[in-house]
Amino acid sequence: MPERHSAENRGLHASRSHETSSQISWSPSTWRSKPIEQAPVYPDAASLAGVEAQLAKFPPLVFAGEARQLKRALGEVAQGKAFLLQGGDCAEAFAEHAADNIRDFFRVFLQMAVVMTFAAASPVVKVGRIAGQFAKPRSTPNETIDGIELPSYRGDIVNGIEFDGASRIPDPQRQLDAYRQSAATLNLLRAFATGGYANLENAHRWMLGFVKDSPQASRYEEVASRITEALEFMRAIGLDPETHQELRQTAFYTSHEALLLGYEQALTRVDSTSGDHYATSGHMVWIGDRTRQLDHAHVEYCRGIRNPIGLKCGPSLRPDDLLRLIDVLNPENEAGRLTLICRFGADKVGEHLPELIRAVEREGRTVVWSCDPMHGNTIKTASGYKTRPFDRVMKEVKSFFAVHQAEGSYAGGVHLEMTGKDVTECTGGARAISEMDLRDRYHTYCDPRLNADQAIEVAFLVAELLKAERSQGAKPVRADAAE
Ligand code: PEP
Ligand code: CO
Repeated sequence: MPERHSAENRGLHASRSHETSSQISWSPSTWRSKPIEQAPVYPDAASLAGVEAQLAKFPPLVFAGEARQLKRALGEVAQGKAFLLQGGDCAEAFAEHAADNIRDFFRVFLQMAVVMTFAAASPVVKVGRIAGQFAKPRSTPNETIDGIELPSYRGDIVNGIEFDGASRIPDPQRQLDAYRQSAATLNLLRAFATGGYANLENAHRWMLGFVKDSPQASRYEEVASRITEALEFMRAIGLDPETHQELRQTAFYTSHEALLLGYEQALTRVDSTSGDHYATSGHMVWIGDRTRQLDHAHVEYCRGIRNPIGLKCGPSLRPDDLLRLIDVLNPENEAGRLTLICRFGADKVGEHLPELIRAVEREGRTVVWSCDPMHGNTIKTASGYKTRPFDRVMKEVKSFFAVHQAEGSYAGGVHLEMTGKDVTECTGGARAISEMDLRDRYHTYCDPRLNADQAIEVAFLVAELLKAERSQGAKPVRADAAE
């Protein structure tokens, strides 16, 4: 156990309290005077400024009140009273914008939520990586194929994926297309979530279809039939979707990485109720693992908006740096404001997560701990496909829960790259997708996603882990908690 009152910690605290940048004035544009990583270079500055001015006049995609509602729900997650399910595409794409993609994703997401809600016997907060997840950070600024070097693809909101010089030039007009696609996607999602499609009995019926067809059917049948019984009981006593709006509707939120800050700034608005600034491009935004430098632009932008925000935590994040980031991003220690999205890799969770948890607990900081079992488990096959072995994904989720159990903290959520389609991008799972199968339906624009079956399999695993966590009752008291 770390010492609670070490000289190092006191020093850290002293220096942190002096330079609280939250007291330094902020506006939606103060990020522009900071160093920035992963920013595209637009050749036509005037055209970029014109697009940003246009976006600044467009209607907001979400309301501040909704973002506050999500923050409240995440506050419950931070206290172990609810669980966060966040997921969707690595990168949304213009060419994939179609109703059936949105519908299939939403259906799978709801099925996952039903399984997890039942197991945890507590609410599942549903947050899609959707309706705005377009901008991508890249490991190298350029890409070379057959001796030709071009700028890397940075997501459809920036440039085109085709490997030719013209499409790789950042084009500001794409931001308008991304905005419109986000608006149309969100419109359909809102209709699904509130118009009756998301009704609990439907979601359960879809899930039964999955269970019946799964090679792992016997493993899932027990939970599935217990949910059936619960729903039949509810119907018998008059609780049915026809008469009860709560069973007909669901709360669904959107999220994306706040990477393209000019776009985010243009959609940042003052909420007339509170006078605070909110990003209105989505309910929740997060800071990526490559852009979380304390004194850089992305942290600067995010500290001033009042939405719930996420922070990706990879193996290079030291506990002291995390505490400094928390000071800047959540100076008032507001529950639900900050979600730490941990993405270490299946073999590195045990090495990195405990020290971060201990630092956060020692300082009495309230956060949501979420597990992204995708980004630390990417490998390249001999034939050149980026993939993620399903076993590694599962292993990271299991280790994440085990560490939280040992530390006496809450495993609050999962963050997945997934689709509702039957793609072949991650190997393994109940249908044992092999490396040879990857070429069949490898459709992602960026990272490999769990397909519908693999995503639901993860949900069943999480359900088992949540149930075990719950049955252990009260959190164990930490060894150093009584000091
Ligand atoms: C992502 O979520 O798609 C991503 C790029 O993640 P990270 O910042 O954790 O690498
Ligand atoms: Co990704």
